[in-house]
Amino acid sequence: MSVDRTQTTGPGPVMLAARDVSTGYHGVPVVRGLNLEVRAGEVVLLAGPNGAGKTTTMMTLAGAIRPLSGTTEFAGEPTRLPMHKRVRLGMGVVTEKRSIFYGLTVADNLRLGRGTKEDALGYFPELRERLGVKAGQLSGGEQQMLSLARVIAARPRAVIADEMSLGLAPILVKRLLAALRNAADNGAAVLIVEQHVRVALEMADRACFLKRGSIVLHGSAAQLRNQEREIEDVYL
Ligand SMILES: Nc1ncnc2c1ncn2[C@@H]1O[C@H](COP(=O)(O)OP(=O)(O)OP(=O)(O)O)[C@@H](O)[C@H]1O
Ligand SMILES: [Mg+2]
Repeated sequence: MSVDRTQTTGPGPVMLAARDVSTGYHGVPVVRGLNLEVRAGEVVLLAGPNGAGKTTTMMTLAGAIRPLSGTTEFAGEPTRLPMHKRVRLGMGVVTEKRSIFYGLTVADNLRLGRGTKEDALGYFPELRERLGVKAGQLSGGEQQMLSLARVIAARPRAVIADEMSLGLAPILVKRLLAALRNAADNGAAVLIVEQHVRVALEMADRACFLKRGSIVLHGSAAQLRNQEREIEDVYL
C-alpha cells in the first residue's frame, strides 16, 4: 500500500483550491482574499493562532460554509455543492469529532465505511487485533485511527483534516499524520490543520500560516523547518 516516495513524480492536478475567497459568518468575513491550492499527492499544512480562521477556511473548502465572495474548487472545477455532495464525489473530511459508530465493533465500522476493510487495515494494521472490540471501548487514539481509516480507505481524492489529533499523545499525532502522508503518496490531496506544527512540518510538503484571516507566511515545509523565528512571529 505505501509508495516509495523516491518513485513519485511530484504533485498531480489541483484537487482543492480557494480563489480570492472571503468567508465568514452572518455576512461578516473572518477570512479575506484567500488563495490556496492543494494538488494530488501533496500534504499542505494550514496553521496559525487561535481564531485565525483555519476552521472557517477548512469548512469553506469542504462546502459546509458558503464563501461570501470568490470561489472554491474541487477536483479542478469551481463548485458550490454542499459538503455531503462533495463527500460523495470523493472528498474526505476529518475533524476532532470521531465519526464512528460507538456501539458497533471495529470490523462493523470498517464494513460500513466507503472503503474496504483491507485498505483500512493497510493504513492502520494496529486495528487488526481490535476488530472484535466495540468502538466505544477503544482508546481515544484508536478511535481516531478508526475514524481516519474509514475516511482514507475510501480512497478520497482530497482529505480535509482539522485538528484530528486534538488531545492525543504526540506518538499518536505522528501515527495519524503518517497515515495521511501515506494517503497523499497514494494520490490524495491532503490539507491539514494541526497544532503540532513542528511534527506536521516533518511530513508536509508545504505550509501556509494564517493570521487574522490572511495568509502571512507560506512556503515549502523544507524551507519553513528553518524559519522558526518567522513562525514564532505569526503567533505573537
Ligand atoms: N459559528 C460562528 N459564528 C460566528 N463567528 C464564528 C463562528 N465560528 C468561528 N467564528 C469566529 O471566526 C473567527 C475564526 O474562527 P475559526 O474557528 O475559523 O479559527 P481557527 O483558526 O480555527 O481557531 P482555533 O485554532 O481556535 O481552532 C474567530 O474570530 C471566531 O470567533
Ligand atoms: Mg479551528
